[in-house]
Amino acid sequence: MIDDLWYKNGVFYCLSVGTYMDANGDGIGDFKGLLRRLDYLHGLGVTAIWLMPFQPSPGKDDGYDISDYYGVDPRYGTLGDFVEFTHGCQQRGIRVIIDLVVNHTSDAHPWFRDARSSPDSRHRDWYVWANKRPASASKGMVFPGVQKSTWTHDKEAKAWFFHRFYDFQPDLNTSNPYVQAEILKIMGFWIQLGVSGFRMDAVPFVISTKGAKVRTPVEQYDMLRTLREFLQWRQGNAIILAEANVLPETDMEYFGKDGDRMHMMFNFHVNQNLFYAMASADSRPLAKALKATKPRPASAQWGLFLRNHDELDLGRLTKVQQAVVFKNFAPDKNMQLYDRGIRRRLAPMLGGDRRRLELAYSLMCTLPGTPVIRYGDEIGMGDNLDLPERNCARTPMQWSTEPHAGFTESEKPCSPVIDEGPYGYEHINVAQQRRDPNSMLNWTERIIRMRKEVPEIGWGDFRVIATRDPAVLVIRYDWRNNSVLFVHNLDEKPREVSFSVGVAGDDGKHLINLLSEKHSEAHDRGKHSLMLEAYGYRWYRVGGLDYLLKRTDIDGVNANHPE
Ligand code: NOJ
Ligand code: CA
Repeated sequence: MIDDLWYKNGVFYCLSVGTYMDANGDGIGDFKGLLRRLDYLHGLGVTAIWLMPFQPSPGKDDGYDISDYYGVDPRYGTLGDFVEFTHGCQQRGIRVIIDLVVNHTSDAHPWFRDARSSPDSRHRDWYVWANKRPASASKGMVFPGVQKSTWTHDKEAKAWFFHRFYDFQPDLNTSNPYVQAEILKIMGFWIQLGVSGFRMDAVPFVISTKGAKVRTPVEQYDMLRTLREFLQWRQGNAIILAEANVLPETDMEYFGKDGDRMHMMFNFHVNQNLFYAMASADSRPLAKALKATKPRPASAQWGLFLRNHDELDLGRLTKVQQAVVFKNFAPDKNMQLYDRGIRRRLAPMLGGDRRRLELAYSLMCTLPGTPVIRYGDEIGMGDNLDLPERNCARTPMQWSTEPHAGFTESEKPCSPVIDEGPYGYEHINVAQQRRDPNSMLNWTERIIRMRKEVPEIGWGDFRVIATRDPAVLVIRYDWRNNSVLFVHNLDEKPREVSFSVGVAGDDGKHLINLLSEKHSEAHDRGKHSLMLEAYGYRWYRVGGLDYLLKRTDIDGVNANHPE
């Protein structure tokens, strides 16, 4: 296996152009502004940007309601500005992936306007219609509490249309070959403008059978192979990162048994168990989730995240586990959303406790996969719970102590900048943290640099190492004759643990700390004993720092592991 698949050992950063940096002073972030901040991102060390939707849109679902797939919303700039941006990224060695939102369009899209105009219109069959209200109309809502149904009557069409999400997002009939051809065309278009792939929205719904008569939707997995084939024919190293919150036993259907479907998927299963682990100081369900999501083709990769632009969905946890997470991280009803999740940003969830934030990031960076950071989390930004639904965690980036955090010169930013309390921009901003060697920002930069120097995480095989203490997670990776080992104490109290590294020979006796001078030598019986402070974490290289000399070209050579 070649070892330069760029997405296997990178650090992704997700942002939306509208809330990042406003260059022309109209209160809305734009591509020109983003371009001016690329050196910041380059300095931070991220290897790829995941850009949220920026196409023309009524903006009722933060751009996930697209009305033209082949353009840039004029509020953000022009296609010219977009290409300047992708070029600027290329100059700095940063890849760009963009959202591919093709499960549905906006109801303002000309396709839908045509479709609703007459049963004989060219685009009628691009959407999903029924003459009567289907029995399933009150089932399958993605936004319970806000969304009332999945079928809505359209007066003009004199028919009901299907919408998995909000009623202004009619589902595309993705089984229609014309729609399928259009999806490929959209991918081809943006690839041509310099992107390296797509974060594909709502994948299970895109590939599901849809319609009034469909009782149990069935996923048509072959569609995934078609998308990949097309993409890789157009550009060999482009990828698709799938948003698919599915059960572990289904993962391989998405990756493809031969690695011929999605290159990456977000690991929702680990995400929820990770938050449970942090809330309960019990690492066992997390270890179980890691094992359950272990099988994947060699070329595939997990995207690992803590928080994103949506609610933290806890739907996979048991009711008891959910209650533990809510109690610890979102005790007020106002912090919860859609009967299943938490809408806060990470820093306030963790009480702004630097030790817990570092622990969380250290875990995200050392679990199997590629970390995906949400903009603003690198400085510990907060949320504004006065804003509705998920908007609370989508406020403008806090750059400095200038008015509106240096995000805009306008009096009225598109979304209010957080300006009060401990997370207000006067306390939390990039400019100050840059100057402070001990800031969260500089810590994040260092951890990203170190993460990139540990390809074993992205490429290697892992195993969870037994300790007697459920509060402590020990995980080891092996790749090309080298091993690394990570220890995390989830508890608020200090913990003492001992364990064997599990590699044969003398290497396992020495653990070289990558982040401090606290190395560890095994005692007589070959075991290591560590005293971990509350929420403490350790990154070790097994054996010594001569790993580049020891690294072999293929796996399994000189391997001195007993298993
Ligand atoms: C998933 C996106 O992450 C979310 O923000 C959006 O509302 C839905 N898909 C609908 O596109
Ligand atoms: Ca602007």
